[in-house]
Amino acid sequence: MPVGVTTLSLDTISCPVFMEVQNKAIAAALHEHTLCRSVSGSADQPTVTERASALDPNTTAWLDLTLRWIHLIAGAAWIGTSFYFNWINHHIRPPEIPREGVSGELWSVHGGAFYRVEKFGVAPKQLPKTLHWFKWEAYLTWITGIALLILIYYVGADLYLVDPSVSDIGSGTAITIGVGALVGAWIIYDLLCKSPLSARPIPFAVVVFVLATAVAFGLTRVFGSRGAYIHMGAMLGTLMAVNVFMVIIPGQRAMVDAMMKGLEPDAREGRAGALRSLHNNYMTLPVLFIMTSSHYPMAYGHAANWAILAALALIGAITRHYFNLKGKGRESPWILPGAAVAMIALAFVSRPSVAPSASTASSAEHVSIEVVQAIIQEKCAVCHSANPSHPAAAAAPPDVIMDTREQIGALAERINAVAVLSATMPLGNVTGLTQEERDVLGRWIRDGANIGAGR
Ligand code: HEC
Repeated sequence: MPVGVTTLSLDTISCPVFMEVQNKAIAAALHEHTLCRSVSGSADQPTVTERASALDPNTTAWLDLTLRWIHLIAGAAWIGTSFYFNWINHHIRPPEIPREGVSGELWSVHGGAFYRVEKFGVAPKQLPKTLHWFKWEAYLTWITGIALLILIYYVGADLYLVDPSVSDIGSGTAITIGVGALVGAWIIYDLLCKSPLSARPIPFAVVVFVLATAVAFGLTRVFGSRGAYIHMGAMLGTLMAVNVFMVIIPGQRAMVDAMMKGLEPDAREGRAGALRSLHNNYMTLPVLFIMTSSHYPMAYGHAANWAILAALALIGAITRHYFNLKGKGRESPWILPGAAVAMIALAFVSRPSVAPSASTASSAEHVSIEVVQAIIQEKCAVCHSANPSHPAAAAAPPDVIMDTREQIGALAERINAVAVLSATMPLGNVTGLTQEERDVLGRWIRDGANIGAGR
């Protein structure tokens, strides 16, 4: 229940009552802004005991590390096996010496040993004692991914999911929308797969792409930019994992069961599985980008972040298509250079405008370091300080400390990237940095980020 999650979320431990102990002034400033909107004034304000039961930042950070590590390992294993089997399918050739039932053969050398893989055209007459399945890679990737989603974006919904400058929804509503998007996406996708459309690859791909882009657009209107991106990743990852769980593995199980009973396996099961495998194949590269996307504020923090995501997904899918065609012996020499040109074009069209925005028309006047320092002190240093007062500060990078003007000056470029060119900081805009303040920071940086006294 979202309500239950809210009472455990970071916003409760960062509410003014708690923070009073640490810094009354900052707590008051934060309270004026949006930090405590989901708890302040409500009758069910959590008690001190409830607050104490919230995860402390160090525990959260280590849980994050552990889950993310497993997520990456399982994901690498999943994608690795899937790429490997694709590769086998593309390179296997009819055996040199024909053998009964064997439609393809492939020799390889790896790690000092020779391997021969045989592919059966139809099911083998007899099943071996041990038959290996590939499913736990997928399940574990999904389980750890969802756990991370909950840990970071749902428990920390106020920071990572909700952004009051995007929409004024509470954490509970945001989480409901997030979960709804994942479940809804599966229902619609599954219906599309069972419809006649699925037999026509190009119209199917167009419909799925348009729908996914519409969802991405919608999510960027209700969530903070990172929350929107990660939900698109979680959504595609969910489709892929549920494809394995609900269609591919049950289909294979039915085939094996039929064979055990000496019956002919139902070819429809095989076809349905193959279709979903193919979809998974095209989703891999876009999902891999989204998994790492939180490193790229120029993408997720861009005003047209949904369109950038759509473009990158297209570039990823078409790149995958190149390898699929190549596997079938069809060379398409223009695809990879086309993808490279598209990347360059995307970087170009999405570049930040250097022209000062309209609100900085009076940009002739210099911005002094005092003004900058005052803004940073109030809006950033609650987290980015040697003595931070905000619970989320434990997750902030230790090299981003902005207590002195020298530190601020040295960080000018990075401040520019996250608070001027994009609006990804402050996290969830909890301290309510205004557009005017961003413009002031931007002007100071464009003027050379001078930290000299008296300027
Ligand atoms: C609520 C706490 C909080 C506030 C307020 C905050 N930050 Fe951050 N900041 C973080 C956390 C946590 C990270 C760690 C990485 C992440 O989640 O992106 C971070 C990361 C950063 C980074 C490193 C990102 C990178 O990839 O280089 C910069 C730069 C930064 N913040 C600048 C700012 C500036 C400038 C402000 C004020 C306008 C600000 N932050 C306000 C919590 C905060």
